[in-house]
Order: sequence, then structure tokens, then C-alpha cells
Amino acid sequence: MKVLVVGSGGREHAICKAVAKSPLCEKLFCAPGNAGIAADAECLPIKVDDTSGIVSKAKELGVTFVIIGPEIPLSLGLADELDSAGILCFGPKKEAAELESSKSFMKSVCDRAHVPTASYKRFTDAEAARTYVSSKKPPIVIKANGLAAGKGVTIALSVEDALSAINAAMVDNVFGSSGSQVVIEDFLDGEEASFFALCDGTSARFFATAQDHKAVYDGDKGPNTGGMGAYSPAPIINDAMRERVMNEIIRPTIEEMKRIGRPYRGMLYAGLMMTKAGPRLIEYNARFGDPEAEVMIPLLKSDLLEILYACARGKLCDVNVEFKDGAALGVVMATDGYPGNYVKGSIIRGIGRAEAVPGVTVYHAATKRNANGDLTSNGGRVLCVTALASTIVEAQKTAYQAVDQIDWPEGFCRRDIGWRALTRAKR
Ligand code: AMP
Ligand code: GLY
Repeated sequence: MKVLVVGSGGREHAICKAVAKSPLCEKLFCAPGNAGIAADAECLPIKVDDTSGIVSKAKELGVTFVIIGPEIPLSLGLADELDSAGILCFGPKKEAAELESSKSFMKSVCDRAHVPTASYKRFTDAEAARTYVSSKKPPIVIKANGLAAGKGVTIALSVEDALSAINAAMVDNVFGSSGSQVVIEDFLDGEEASFFALCDGTSARFFATAQDHKAVYDGDKGPNTGGMGAYSPAPIINDAMRERVMNEIIRPTIEEMKRIGRPYRGMLYAGLMMTKAGPRLIEYNARFGDPEAEVMIPLLKSDLLEILYACARGKLCDVNVEFKDGAALGVVMATDGYPGNYVKGSIIRGIGRAEAVPGVTVYHAATKRNANGDLTSNGGRVLCVTALASTIVEAQKTAYQAVDQIDWPEGFCRRDIGWRALTRAKR
């Protein structure tokens, strides 16, 4: 079949590499892709938010299956438009993707489905929100209701900080319309983990677990980013816990979505807090995580395209989802200045040397060839260097060995990706 992957990050590179290997894939396109993806797919210069452009190009090229990577096209209804054009796709329709794009919708589904999550109140009026937080004991969690590229959450350690977060979102509109409504919730204490389940509208199936590192600097210091590195599986989620999360969180959500006429088809990514009282849902995302995809997909033994295609057709029960033994760890390399301002276009060398380290793949998250054909940086998060090994400890060693082969003076990375799993392994 002819397949189109939508997106341009490391996640989409991991998807493209796996799909390109499938015997079911006759031709692979990626819109817009990047310089690394260009080795695995034909890149099309169409932006991810150009819904009609993507649909008409897919029709023109005779694409039979579209895999949507990022949240923006999902929230804009790309899956709905593809469906109207008779093109099958992996990724939920707009109303189902609201599990990610509207925190208040997500919370209302969780309430009705009795999914354990932080207790909350939502506000459209800044004064009412201020009065509410003034009576609360910190830490207080304040969230912009809509999509905010991972930056819409404030964990306020004092009432003053909570009041400033409310002002930023509701008065100064720093998140635009995403912040006109805020959700204020109780603080959950514990270790975070990312939990992924495939959902075909009626049934859900466990896919994999991972742990991300959101803060920009070592020791989880500094502002939050899209994710500076990840590993899979997450040692904190054993088989019994996996079943518990499927039964207490994922399946009730899927049932409720079906009941309200918004069947969920695609990857459901639950951000969990593993508290002393049990797993609690922090948030849902309607897609693969990034960089989590870059550590989960290379561990997959089964055919990714076959799995996503079956899922999109409501036939999850027909496929095998098997993983290799061992672990994967990925280190994100970003441009100096990220997540703040940074300059694009610096030259990156040594990817070949890094990939010569056994077990290593370098996924491109934002790269571009310049006029001389040099590989250059084209964004904040630029590469994800992933190593597969028998243990997370080994995978970490190998990943940093490969990182050290990359010659890119304008880039940086965290040196402690995997610290939680390593601490646990030493216990
Ligand atoms: P979200 O965008 O909802 O994933 O939130 C971003 C980050 O804020 C999460 O990954 C958590 O680290 C943190 N967070 C969000 N909600 C809570 C909560 N209720 N309690 C503690 N930490 C939270
Ligand atoms: N790694 C976090 C995310 O994809 O949202």
C-alpha cells in the first residue's frame, strides 16, 4: 500500500523507519519530513496544519493509509477530512482527540468513567479562580485548558505563584485562547511514567511504557521542554501494574468514549503519576509521545504498519504486538538556547560515526540540508540518539558513546537520561 506519515519530528522518523521496512509498504511519503526522514520516505513540502493540502495531495498520490504523528493536525480534524475523502488513517477524529486538546473534556470523561485522576475545578472567570486558589494549600497545579505545547502547566509552590499563573493564562493571554479557561487541580506526588495503548474504537490493547525527561537540564532542573530523552520499558510498571492501568484507566475511558459517540481510534498515551495510593492519570495525549516513540518503536518485533493498519480498521484482535527483549534509551540533542530562543542552520557532523556504534540509531527531529548538502539544525530538538541493549544501564552507556561521536558545537544534551531507572537498578 502507499502510506503517508504526517509530521517532521523524531517520532515521525521512528515511524517512517519502521513502516519503510514493512513488506506491506509499497511507497512511503512524509509531509513535511526532514533531512533524516528523506532517506526513508519521499518528503512532501506540506505543513502539518494544512489539512486540505494534505488531503488533496493524498488523493492525488493514491495514498491508501495515512499515519498522523503530532497533535495539531488531530485537533484540526485531519482524521475527519481524510475519512470524508475515503482515506483510512491512524489517529483519532477531532472530537475524540479532545482527550488531549481539552483538559476539561478529558476530566469530564474521567469523572463519568471513574478514572482515578487529580481532583479539580475549572474556571472561565479569573476572579473566581483567584478566590479558589487563595483558599488552597500549595503545591497547586494550574493548567491552561487547551493545547500549549507542553508549557501550559504551572506547579505553584505558593499562593502568589498560583495567582501569577492565573493572570498569565487568563488576563495576559500568554497561551492565547488555550488559556481562557483554566483547570486547577490537586498536586499528585510520585514518579511519572508514560503508558501507551492501541485503541480501535471498541477495544484497547497494551502497547508499551516509557519514561521521559521533561526538564531541560541535568537533575530535572530548568524549564520544561517537549522531552530531552526517554527509555523503554519503564521499570516502575510491572505486569500486574500494567493490567491495573488497562483496567482502571484505559478500558473505562475507551468504553465511555464509545458510549458518548466519540469512539477512540489511534494511540492513547496516558501520562501517569505512580502515587502511593496507586496509578493516577495526569493527562491524555492522542498520539505517540516524542521522544517516547524513538525508544518504543525500535524495540517492536512485530510489523508496525500491520498493527497501525489493523487498528485503524477496528481489527486490533487480528494482529500480534510483540517486542524484543531488552531496553532502549534515547538522548535528545537540542540547539543551544532551547526551549528559549535559538539559531537554526548550524552544521552537524558525525551521524555516521554515531550509527556505527552497535545498537544505535540516530533519529532526526529537525534537520535540513543546506545549499552545500551539509546536514544542519532546523529547530530546537534536533536529534534523538537511541541505543538498544539488554539492559537500560547498557543502553545508557551505548547511547552516550554514540552522542560523543557527534560533532555539533552549537548543540547540547542532558548527560543523565535514565537516572531514575538506574537508581532503581542499583537498589
Ligand atoms: P501535562 O501537560 O498535563 O502533562 O503536565 C505537564 C507536567 O506537569 C506533567 O508531566 C507533570 O510533571 C506535571 N503535572 C501535571 N499535573 C500534575 C499534578 N496534578 N500533580 C503533579 N504534577 C503534575
Ligand atoms: N514526550 C511528551 C510528549 O510527547 O507529549
